[in-house]
Amino acid sequence: MAQDKLKPYQKNGEVFKSSTASRSRRNFLKGVGISGVAVAASGCAARSASAPESAIEENDPEALSKVAITLKVNGEARKMKVQPNAVLLDVLRDDLQLTGTKKGCDHGQCGACNLHVNGKVINSCLSLAVMHDGDDITTIEGLSENGEMSAVQKAFHENDAFQCGYCTSGQMMTADYVIRSDDIPASPEAWREAMSGNICRCGAYKNILSAMQQASKHV
Ligand code: FES
Ligand code: FES
Repeated sequence: MAQDKLKPYQKNGEVFKSSTASRSRRNFLKGVGISGVAVAASGCAARSASAPESAIEENDPEALSKVAITLKVNGEARKMKVQPNAVLLDVLRDDLQLTGTKKGCDHGQCGACNLHVNGKVINSCLSLAVMHDGDDITTIEGLSENGEMSAVQKAFHENDAFQCGYCTSGQMMTADYVIRSDDIPASPEAWREAMSGNICRCGAYKNILSAMQQASKHV
């Protein structure tokens, strides 16, 4: 064989033939390769046959990065796991199917996503769900009282304070806060100013103010 003609060499006092050394190393690597593949394959087979679903999920980087939180939504504790960057609006709409809260601009400029957190109004499109672990959240679905429309909901209905309705849940959540707030004077100017973060493309502003004035007599 060609490699048998290669010259022997010395190392640490021992004589080696380069062909032997090279063949041994090749054979060793081959052996490791085959057994390594066999071990890996048997490992996969064993895993797919016997590993529980949860163990597979634990190795899923997406599932691993999720954070466990509990939101108290409309009086009900909702435990869930969310990505650290999940937006509160998306979690409510997509995970909890509370689609009454709308996504308009998604940039904190229109108020369509407004809801109450611990009694204050916030833009839910600008807030991460993980920041609200343990918080008390009220969405438009929770504004009604014992299955009856709230004072604000009734007043919006009776005053035709909407047209297409897309902005309406956000308008009502802000309006409900404004008419109850001790910090906002009960004047048309102050209420218009307080409602200025809620945009209505249909221009129902006049009727929204009338609805707030009516509702304020019943809260
Ligand atoms: S969708 Fe949040 S402010 Fe417009
Ligand atoms: S009712 Fe249409 S955007 Fe306000």
